Amino acid sequence: MKIAVLGFGTVGAGIHEMLQKAEGLEPGPVWVRRGKADEAWKTDDFDRILADPSIDAVAEAIGGTDPAYGLAKRTLESGRHFVTANKMLVAEYGLELQKIADRSGAAFLFSAACGGGVPLLHNLALARRGDEIVSVKGILNGTTNYMLDRMQTEGLGYEEALKQAQALGYAEADPSADVSGLDALRKIRLASAVAFGILPDGCLHEGIENVSAEDIRFYQSKGLVLRLIAKAARTEEGVSAHVEPVLFARNAAEAAVSLNNNLAVYEGRFCGRIGLSGQGAGRYPTASAVIRDLESILSGARRMLPEKTVRAAADNGSEKYRCYLRLTEAFAGLFPGAERLEQSTADGSLRLLTKPLPADRMHAAAAEIRKKGGCISFAALEE
Ligand code: HSE
Repeated sequence: MKIAVLGFGTVGAGIHEMLQKAEGLEPGPVWVRRGKADEAWKTDDFDRILADPSIDAVAEAIGGTDPAYGLAKRTLESGRHFVTANKMLVAEYGLELQKIADRSGAAFLFSAACGGGVPLLHNLALARRGDEIVSVKGILNGTTNYMLDRMQTEGLGYEEALKQAQALGYAEADPSADVSGLDALRKIRLASAVAFGILPDGCLHEGIENVSAEDIRFYQSKGLVLRLIAKAARTEEGVSAHVEPVLFARNAAEAAVSLNNNLAVYEGRFCGRIGLSGQGAGRYPTASAVIRDLESILSGARRMLPEKTVRAAADNGSEKYRCYLRLTEAFAGLFPGAERLEQSTADGSLRLLTKPLPADRMHAAAAEIRKKGGCISFAALEE
């Protein structure tokens, strides 16, 4: 099977290199932006790829939706297989691209778009066929895990930890997607689509921007370790999907995930809890997931999304958790029955431990407090 690669950045170059040695796969041309085709095997003319009948598949690693979406559509319409590492593309246009693939008989796989080298989507796509997946959750953003790990083990400040994560190439071009939890949210939405056949909209995300060094010290004094967790689960109404900082006991598996590693855990009605951990980003881990998808196509795989996958509003009102809060004292009344822990030092805000409350109530309260000029940092307690 001959493959054209779209994009020659970190991941595209990795795919191109790995294709030289992969069994049953043959490297084709690499598409690059206008004026960047500085080698004979590169082209900036996508029409040339479509006009070449020897090319069977396209592997996309451009990122973003433009021009990736247009090129994906044209690839699938031509009947060629399309494999991508692009989470934004799949989160936005995945269902539409799947329909085009269904019509043309081409494969559409995107294992590399969630978890880098960690085979979460690959396994979910197989597991859900004979099992009933109940939940998927984990550490799906390497940048924030690196930052939290360095802040907790080395006492680094937030800005310094972010700078290091950027220098190491883990962060998105715009790191606000990492630190706000949006990147992890995109990934858990894809996992939900593959596991449950529901691509949830209106999901909630709280990142780590409001976590201070003092918060970290306070959690450590309680023997707790902070991680950014993305979670999707079946509920009576559909699926829940949210991202927030979560506190774990020191002996929990999540607490042991160091640096930029990812940990994904899914639970099936029959298989029980399965954990997968490893490198969630980077050239070779991500390229290896693309190569795995291409090898799966050789073995007959054509899709990851269940048939009749739909978009639906997330149901975040069922799952409850207790939260540790640091907030402006005037807003404490929003959390009736919360236990008062201590007066925070610097700005006179309070620390509270809430009663169990639904995820949507917690996120809405935080949004309300910030809208009214107050401050809040919250972390759910894993119990
Ligand atoms: N910025 C992402 C992360 C890259 O840190 O996990 C991989 O998707």
